[in-house]
Amino acid sequence: MERYVIKGGNPLAGEVEIAGAKNAALAILAAAIMTDETVVIENMPDVRDTNVLLEAIQEIGAVVERLDRSTVRVNGSTITDVSVDYEFIKKIRASYYLLGALLGKYKHAEVPLPGGCNIGSRPIDQHLKGFRALGASVEIRHGAIVTKAERLKGSHIFLDMVSVGATINIMMAASLASGRTIIENAAREPHVVDVANFLNSMGANIKGAGTDVIRIRGVEKLHKAEYSIIPDQIEAGTFMFAAAATRGDVLVKNVIPKHLEATTAKLEEIGCEVMEFDDSVRVIASGDLRRTHVKTLPYPGYPTDMQPQIAATLATAKGTSIVTESIFENRFKYVDELSRMGANIKVQGNTAIIDGVEKLTGARVSASDLRAGAALVIAGLSAEGITIVDDIVYIQRGYEEFEVKLRSLGAEIEKVSNEKEIQKFRLRVG
Ligand code: EPZ
Repeated sequence: MERYVIKGGNPLAGEVEIAGAKNAALAILAAAIMTDETVVIENMPDVRDTNVLLEAIQEIGAVVERLDRSTVRVNGSTITDVSVDYEFIKKIRASYYLLGALLGKYKHAEVPLPGGCNIGSRPIDQHLKGFRALGASVEIRHGAIVTKAERLKGSHIFLDMVSVGATINIMMAASLASGRTIIENAAREPHVVDVANFLNSMGANIKGAGTDVIRIRGVEKLHKAEYSIIPDQIEAGTFMFAAAATRGDVLVKNVIPKHLEATTAKLEEIGCEVMEFDDSVRVIASGDLRRTHVKTLPYPGYPTDMQPQIAATLATAKGTSIVTESIFENRFKYVDELSRMGANIKVQGNTAIIDGVEKLTGARVSASDLRAGAALVIAGLSAEGITIVDDIVYIQRGYEEFEVKLRSLGAEIEKVSNEKEIQKFRLRVG
């Protein structure tokens, strides 16, 4: 099993390029099969989750060609099966986007129910509520969701809570329903907008994405398109916090600064200087960082996917910080691992109280999910001594060449797969 070994203490410095947004790419790959014509998608992140979803759409019969590392060509005309294999949903929950895509196109989809994951139970009742509202039947049969419709008819749908997945899944199915659909209390994340823009480039008629009311006029069919995915604001934010935690100076390139506003505001609040350019941001952190309070909220609030990263940074800020997680019920599992590095954090319900310490010390820790793993790497980069992060398969789900990009910023980090390689690293870094 691969792991990262890190020697902390180097302030990160230099420039790093951000890849395409994983959470936009997953939905866009599902939506790409909704036409029988060819779709070319650029700026696709080369990460485990997107590669698994590409396998899933090939498995049901779509033709997928990789033109280069970040460009894929998809043609859904040869799909013969509307039932997605369990192995894919087990690997990535977002396979459930194939429900909306297949239901929209074929009026029939069968996808195994996604389990919970390490950050919460993550039900998909709102997705299913939307499909029913569009006139589809939805049954749970032998662990799979089976949804069918004679025809899909537009509807006025009120989501009970803001849900990125439900907003996107319903938007896909409604694109090929007859008549008008309105989604109220819709998620406003940049990747929701990206999926809407992609569907519109295929001939869909979607208005209002990015606001909490999305209006869709169904069309008969969708056509070919070429599309480039937006940069990943969570990858960008992760590198911004890595710069802050190591007291470094990093230019994060290929970003949309507007998508990073909540993150930038918090970094400035804790004492970093953040300079914004057209498609990049520079984070400079010298000297002590200050405490802050942060509560995760749906976009444009502070992102839940950036919660572990700010906590790892606040672990060595001066004073007592409070981090409140309002989206998921179990997203503080990484705190126990940070405590083993000397962090002083108490979790009470959905709140973490962080008393800043002088410094963290390296330890052997393990990642419980994608963003927790990234936070433990950030902690290791800022700690004194050697940190080993196990279970990095989680990190590889959403970060393209994470250790390569960090090394280009001066980090002492390597991906290793056995004790011998860890010893070699220790000897090399001294
Ligand atoms: C997406 O998950 C992202 N994943 C998550 O990123 C992200 O944390 C989340 O949005 C919030 O921004 C992808 O895009 C693949 P939700 P999603 O539906 O769509 C509850 C990462 O690290 N809910 O907005 O599953 C749910 O339990 C991942 O990249 C229901 O109760 O999130 C949660 O508490 C982690 N019923 C809240 O709503 C539903 O039908 C928000 O979930 C749907 C959601």
